[in-house]
Amino acid sequence: MTNKSLNERIRALDRRQFIKAGSLFTFGSFVLPGQLFARPEAAPAGGCDPTSDDILGPYYLPGSPVTTLVAQPGEPGDRLFLSGTVLSSDCTTPVENTMIEVWQANDAAVYDTSPAFNLRATFYSDANGQYAFETIMPGAYLNGNQYRPKHIHFRVNKPGFPELITQLYFDGDPYIPADPWASLPDAALRIIPLNPLGGGQQEGVFDIVLDGHVGIKPNRFGTDGDLLPVHPNPMRELCNIHFNVFHRARVGLHIADMNGRVLVTLLDEEKVQGRYTTQWNGVDSSGGQVTSGMYLCLLHIDGKPVKAQRIVRGRGNTAFRSPSTRTRGKRSCAGSWRASHPGKLEVPLQWIRRVSLECGVHFVHVVLHHIDVAGHRDEHALRQSRIGRRPGIGLAGQ
Ligand SMILES: [Fe+2]
Repeated sequence: MTNKSLNERIRALDRRQFIKAGSLFTFGSFVLPGQLFARPEAAPAGGCDPTSDDILGPYYLPGSPVTTLVAQPGEPGDRLFLSGTVLSSDCTTPVENTMIEVWQANDAAVYDTSPAFNLRATFYSDANGQYAFETIMPGAYLNGNQYRPKHIHFRVNKPGFPELITQLYFDGDPYIPADPWASLPDAALRIIPLNPLGGGQQEGVFDIVLDGHVGIKPNRFGTDGDLLPVHPNPMRELCNIHFNVFHRARVGLHIADMNGRVLVTLLDEEKVQGRYTTQWNGVDSSGGQVTSGMYLCLLHIDGKPVKAQRIVRGRGNTAFRSPSTRTRGKRSCAGSWRASHPGKLEVPLQWIRRVSLECGVHFVHVVLHHIDVAGHRDEHALRQSRIGRRPGIGLAGQ
């Protein structure tokens, strides 16, 4: 780092927010000037709130290298310089030698889970409780059906204090209001402003206040896994269920009624750490469609319930509604499911030209006509048994 860029950074900062540390210190291969460390705001009488927790997320890896150069030279993205002070719950007492692990997505919004530990690091607060690191602004990635705001994960450990698992967000991020975690009121102190330093570089301050009153404080979001909001919800024929597994475990995903009675198990198998998506087509374990109403999606990790999401099963079925689609019921109950064409059950809506229900409850016969760009007409017939009162065939392009 050149003296010029250092001076630019210092000029850009409100000096009143920073203290002059007694000396420079080195973390790994990165050195920051003492002037850039944050001074805690004056502690309100009676202390202040500890830094709130956040989800661990599926991409934590233990054992990241000890360095404050989180982004290696040449890592694409805008450089970001973050610093702060680890404090006890009185907001004035620095906590030294606190282990801080950080991990984040890269500029393209991808986490590196390779042994290279790219954009992952471990470092420690110094004798004044101060820490600093250099990284790049993370990308915003799609989580379920919406983007998560840009964030950096923190895992903070100091003997005598409860472990803190949290995330840092940035002022002005358009995805914060819709994010289930960043929009929580107690996340406000973890949404920090950034000071532009020129050349795409920015700097921010994030003070971490540990809870000095208790030795153990479980993360309120759990550290085993997480179930994201179901989409679409209300659902009709099909809903997408996104869930995160934070460590290798036996994962159970169940649909239950509002009394907790399991109607169908969608998944019960060992999964490695990661992010997953599955679907529910509104069918219970007997193969029948559940009625409209409210249901629960339950995530179990190693047999323990971790999270539940409410699912509303809407009335009616619009899957086959289109100007050229007609539905009629018949009392013929012959036949079993057979596809006369080895196509997929999921077909574009424009392929549907006629739908007939045979034996309205148990059998559905679907005739698909496809007219290609040359005007050639092609017909595919599908017959499916025991799919209930409503056709359960998922249609893409709705
Ligand atoms: Fe994340």
